[in-house]
Amino acid sequence: MVVETMGEAAWQDVLSQADLQGEHFISGQCYSDDVTFALIDAATKVSGMAQDDLLKSFGKYWIGYTANSSYGTMFRVGGDQLVTFLTNLNRMHASVHATMPESRMPSFEMLRNEHGRIDVLYTSDRTGLTAFVEGLLKGLMEYFGETGYITLEETPEGEVFSLHCAGKKSELKGAA
Ligand code: HEM
Repeated sequence: MVVETMGEAAWQDVLSQADLQGEHFISGQCYSDDVTFALIDAATKVSGMAQDDLLKSFGKYWIGYTANSSYGTMFRVGGDQLVTFLTNLNRMHASVHATMPESRMPSFEMLRNEHGRIDVLYTSDRTGLTAFVEGLLKGLMEYFGETGYITLEETPEGEVFSLHCAGKKSELKGAA
């Protein structure tokens, strides 16, 4: 996202600010969370964006990017509806975990799905990624053509994201 929106020089700047010059990132390999959070901090500085806005944008960007990458097949087998996809998400992560044993996957549990509202409980042993998750969920809504907005509630069990779906873009157009 840094390269696409701000150019290669900005990415080099991010690497240098994160003290990661010369680092090569290889797909399918695990990296320490220190690397991830150093990159987030550096990208925040270089972009001048507020960290939560950057993470939200990155979550949205990541869905579009991944759905059109070699992981696209996994997106398609995850289901053709938002609810089905979210229901299958833990299984999808479990199958990725089988190929990356060192990964620590998050959990998404569907708590409620009625009257256009989907509640999902997000739990993870990491902290600091809430805004990223919100962006991912917004990205998924857009991927499935859903309009609407997301609210967040902190609960003792974890963070509950409520996806308020106002209807499919195509259906709204049809109704107009
Ligand atoms: C093709 C689809 C996907 C693949 C291959 C994939 C794979 C992964 C991998 C490899 C990690 C890193 C875990 C680690 O290194 O410890 C991860 C983390 C994560 N994934 Fe996915 N994922 C996919 C889809 C999604 C989607 C659609 C969401 C949307 C909610 C999501 C949410 C997350 C979050 C929030 C994390 C951060 C880890 C944490 O919270 O602790 N993933 N995923």
